[in-house]
Amino acid sequence: MVGISGSPSGTSKSRALVEHTLGCFAARGASSELIDLAGLPADALLGRVTAPAVTTALETTTRARIVIAGTPVYRATYSGLLKLFFDLLPQDSLVGKIGVPIATGHAAAHALAVDHGLRPLFASLGATVIAAGVYGTSAQFQDGKPAAELLQAVDRAVREAWALAGAVG
Ligand SMILES: Cc1cc2nc3c(=O)[nH]c(=O)nc-3n(C[C@H](O)[C@H](O)[C@H](O)COP(=O)(O)O)c2cc1C
Repeated sequence: MVGISGSPSGTSKSRALVEHTLGCFAARGASSELIDLAGLPADALLGRVTAPAVTTALETTTRARIVIAGTPVYRATYSGLLKLFFDLLPQDSLVGKIGVPIATGHAAAHALAVDHGLRPLFASLGATVIAAGVYGTSAQFQDGKPAAELLQAVDRAVREAWALAGAVG
């Protein structure tokens, strides 16, 4: 499986959740890989040039069975960084894959960014999206560490994605 981090922050809360999610899958024996979009060349993400690191990240994503996408909420939806990467994925490239949406925002009121933003983003490429995405507010992090209820939400998402990955042919 692959975890895509769409935050430009060096101390990203959403990336911390993506990393924790990957760890949960790894504990079940799955191989897991993090793609930190902040470290990829911007010109290639913008489609001006090609770069091996971006090509490899796209290939890793289209090979994965479960795709986790983590993002901060920017202007009530996912980050531009995440959008750039998803725009480079070929049409239908997530058909038969399970999408796990994760977002962090300052306000609880923007939790719907998961269902109004990330869910259709995944669906536009054909992914089957789990019912229970994960949303964390700033207040649910202490020193960059997610609170227990967020870890429980991740655990529930992992269980659902794992079950669906076995079911989707
Ligand atoms: C440009 C920008 C726009 C933001 N817009 C929102 C917003 O619309 N709603 C919200 O709840 N938080 C908003 N935030 C706060 C971030 O979503 C929040 O701090 C998030 O946890 C950051 O995640 P990260 O640490 O993974 O980057 C915004 C932050 C920035 C820098």
